Amino acid sequence: MTHGPTPCREGDHGKFEITERDGWARLGKLHSSTHILNTPCLLPVINPNIRTVEPREMWEKYGFEALITNSYVIWKHEPLKEQALADGVHKLLDYPGLIMTDSGTFQNYIYGDVEVGVEEIVNFQREIGVDIATMLDVFGTPDMTKEEVEDAVNETISRSAASLDAAGETMLNGPIQGGIFADLRKQSADGMGEHGFSVHPIGGIVPLMERQRYRELVEIILACREHIPWNRPIHMFGCGHPHLFPICVALGADLFDSAAYALFARDDRMLMPWGTVKLADLKEFPISTSALSGHTPASVMSMADDARCELLARHNLEITASELARCRQAIRDGTIWKLVEERSHTNASLREATEYLYANMPESLVAATNPLRDGGVRMSQDLPTSPPSVAALGRLLNSYQTDSGRAILISGTSGPWRDRIGGLVHSIANRWPDANVLVETPLGLLPYTMEDVSPWAHLMGPTSIWDGMAPDDRDFDLAALMGDVTDVVEISFANNKETNLEIIEAAFGDGSGEEVSKTDLDRKMIEDKVCYFLDVERDISKKLLDGSSFVYSKTKRVRNVHASDGEHILSPRMRDGGLSLTLEGARRLHGSGISTVVVNDDSVPFTRKGRNVMHGFITDVKGELNPGLPCLLESEDGTFLGHGVALCTASEARCFTKGIAIKVRDGIGE
Ligand code: GUN
Repeated sequence: MTHGPTPCREGDHGKFEITERDGWARLGKLHSSTHILNTPCLLPVINPNIRTVEPREMWEKYGFEALITNSYVIWKHEPLKEQALADGVHKLLDYPGLIMTDSGTFQNYIYGDVEVGVEEIVNFQREIGVDIATMLDVFGTPDMTKEEVEDAVNETISRSAASLDAAGETMLNGPIQGGIFADLRKQSADGMGEHGFSVHPIGGIVPLMERQRYRELVEIILACREHIPWNRPIHMFGCGHPHLFPICVALGADLFDSAAYALFARDDRMLMPWGTVKLADLKEFPISTSALSGHTPASVMSMADDARCELLARHNLEITASELARCRQAIRDGTIWKLVEERSHTNASLREATEYLYANMPESLVAATNPLRDGGVRMSQDLPTSPPSVAALGRLLNSYQTDSGRAILISGTSGPWRDRIGGLVHSIANRWPDANVLVETPLGLLPYTMEDVSPWAHLMGPTSIWDGMAPDDRDFDLAALMGDVTDVVEISFANNKETNLEIIEAAFGDGSGEEVSKTDLDRKMIEDKVCYFLDVERDISKKLLDGSSFVYSKTKRVRNVHASDGEHILSPRMRDGGLSLTLEGARRLHGSGISTVVVNDDSVPFTRKGRNVMHGFITDVKGELNPGLPCLLESEDGTFLGHGVALCTASEARCFTKGIAIKVRDGIGE
């Protein structure tokens, strides 16, 4: 970075905002008066006594916006201490970006006997001008008894108030301890979360990571994530191995620190996105970084110790930085879970941790995930993906309500199903109007009424992924979707239409029913989507659409939906199969149980004009908010103000004070 740091606006110091997200994974900005830090990010560890790579270079050449050093080391070394107190820590390190310091807890864990006071070390960090200080927490190790860990948790909580007093305006880290005990991690998160910390590191995990006990790391994050206030960044203390970044980011981690880049370099080990390799084992470099340019493994091996260590440290830094950049871009692209899946195949422990996570996917992570995806989702049988977006749609589909226990399953083909089996589905509706038509997809059964919903409609992969579901999965999906299933008929895309109708006739009889018009069929599809995507009851959806008429596209897809009085109320989206409300449609759903955000009086004139709802102006949330899905807006006296798309969950709306909460589509005007 050739430019200087970007200080935050007055009043924003200490605030954290989310700018983009996918489930719990988030891109954010942590506002400090030194610099607005873009997250997720990595803070290289600087040892103030041994600088393998100069902090100035970390900023200018590698673009690291923040670093972490140890205040206890500075405090203990008289010359460093004097200079830090006289000139400040930024001058001491010659670094313009954000500086976080640790407190000596880790030294206490490694060497024992840290003789500094709880308030003394925080006072010192404030005095030397640190941006984010750390309180003196008590390290809980994996081999401690539960009683010992509980003491560490309670002692840390009890030091919080005095530490925060000492910190004054300086942002303070409030570490979460609790060892490997899920209930103590929760207790720690609840206790620390009540105090006014700016950041919550998850501590006590270094010994687990050193022994690659990654499943336990995942268990720890899962135990505390929902108990840490959503508006505070989460730091993974001592987590610097790049192959752990994707899974941690997917679980909501915002900050990482790495001493690994320098420590591994000292042992001639090179970090790669897929793991660690020994320099001595290489004939060629399997990846290129600017540090390695012009070198071969042999030429690096022959360098003097110091020079070799520095070169490898630079390589390790570049790899670490680029893996985090990959994570950030994956959040923007909606592919963070794909990256989690890919990285899980590089290491047995990481695979175990990932499978554990898939099997224990938290409900609130799924609820925070936009079920709709633009573009295709790639999958294959040897790379199964369980992106929570799929689970998120599954969750919505669980509200699928059906009067009949009759199911017709169609297997063997990818979308667009309306082109391939639309005629067959129409014939089925004419003869067996109560039957539920479902399509077998590699991601599970999909009601035909949702046939154009992405990712289901846009799965890419070898044809083998369409070979049919395992009967167990199918039974499970059917029960989840329909409850009591009385009759199931299986038909196949490989058969012609007549054969399929004969198969159904053999099971359900001749069938009877009036001729159903295409409009009626389309209305049923829209009705289902209103239930799923707007989360309203079936009778409300039916009432809204009673007597509705449609404007069709050239390809005969519903473009606009008009209510019985002719008003345009909503439009299905071709892009992802979702629904866009119009202002009139939103007005008609106001008070129907649809998710609604209440804004305060200051914000009412802006919301009316259609300006986005900012965090800090929300007084209540009725129902849940699902990022990416529609919600309504009202004032405190219950007046309808407009509608938009939620960018946050209801829990986030209740605690964030910075950033956009609702992207407003329409306001009712002045
Ligand atoms: N560095 C690595 N782990 C920890 C921890 O648990 N607490 C503190 N303060 N620093 C750490």
